[in-house]
Amino acid sequence: MVNIMKFFDRENEIEEFINIINREPDDIYFIFGPINSGKSTLIREIITNRLDKNKYIPFFIDFRTRNVVNVDNFIECLFEVDEKSKIDDFREYAKSLSDLLVKGSEEISNYYLGMPIKIPKPFFDKIFNKKDKSGDVYQYIEYLFAKLNEKGKKPILIFDELQMIKEITLNGNRLLLWSLFQFLVALTKVQHLCHVFCISSDSLFIEYVYNTGELVGRAKYLLVDDLDKETALKFMDFLAKEILYKYLSDEEKELIYSYVGGKAKDIKYVVEESKFKDLKDVLEYMLKDEIQKLDMFLEILAYSKPKVKIGDEIIEIKKEDIVNALKLFKENYVISKKEISPPVYIYLIKKNILFLNPIEGTLKPQSFLIWNAIKQSKLL
Ligand SMILES: Nc1ncnc2c1ncn2[C@@H]1O[C@H](COP(=O)(O)OP(=O)(O)O)[C@@H](O)[C@H]1O
Ligand SMILES: [Mg+2]
Repeated sequence: MVNIMKFFDRENEIEEFINIINREPDDIYFIFGPINSGKSTLIREIITNRLDKNKYIPFFIDFRTRNVVNVDNFIECLFEVDEKSKIDDFREYAKSLSDLLVKGSEEISNYYLGMPIKIPKPFFDKIFNKKDKSGDVYQYIEYLFAKLNEKGKKPILIFDELQMIKEITLNGNRLLLWSLFQFLVALTKVQHLCHVFCISSDSLFIEYVYNTGELVGRAKYLLVDDLDKETALKFMDFLAKEILYKYLSDEEKELIYSYVGGKAKDIKYVVEESKFKDLKDVLEYMLKDEIQKLDMFLEILAYSKPKVKIGDEIIEIKKEDIVNALKLFKENYVISKKEISPPVYIYLIKKNILFLNPIEGTLKPQSFLIWNAIKQSKLL
């Protein structure tokens, strides 16, 4: 996907990222933040425009675009099959691929636009008929990365939308997740062969991966949050210039912020819509829609017997506990997770109403719009 929209700011996050990859790889990084805060956009900007192409080669696996339905095709998702290749010996292929990548051929430009690791068709077919595929797959990746290191290039392995593998790893395949992350630990902490970044807005799943993958002391977190107010207002100026070819007044910007806060995607949508429509109408429409969704959620609660699974335990939640938890946000945007019982906040996170910051131990609505809906809903 080619994005012609210009990229805005995120200089602090970019600097942090560059600092991490300048060091020897030692930890797995989880990039987390609320939905639509700009995580994927940031990473794509970095790999396309900010990497020193003499030093780094990115391998980008986007689980969203790659329909993961079972363990077999999870392995498939890690790769781009080279249909033309006749090579079935993975060492031979890795050598020639690393040569190609180091030479700076046309091939390599694809990787800076976000491409997974190439794998030759005959080798791929061979391992695909085996019962245990991951051993060969890991061997191939390790060998390719070692070759690139020999030639002075550091691979950067990126998994976007990590939570898309949730279903297949929760349903009796904990071992798959465990072995993947043990392999990633070996690549980073033990062999220092590549950098690893896993991106997701599902912080519950990140915590689950952290525990299941035995990652204590082997993983770090990087937050890409919604924009703070000052930056959000600058983003509006930036978009106004790019999209509207005019300035937004201070009142207009304050108005936008009061509805959608620092959510990059929402701000962009509002500015685009205001090209043809009245700004206040656009904002009111978005808020009404959000209130509608929240009210629907609350009305359905009376019938749906909400439950969550914690460990092997299935826990039923009372409607009034959910209502009381949401009421806490009438006065505050961010609260400590200690103020809500775990089953209730886990349920609200799963419904994408709340966002958990696992580092701070705080909860907040997934967006300012949801926050405004909570404040205005007559059912709360
Ligand atoms: N730094 C940025 N500059 C310009 N647009 C941005 C920026 N960050 C986010 N956006 C806009 O917000 C949308 C959502 O961002 P995205 O990266 O998909 O969020 P996430 O991956 O966190 O869910 C993007 O499609 C883009 O239009
Ligand atoms: Mg994303």
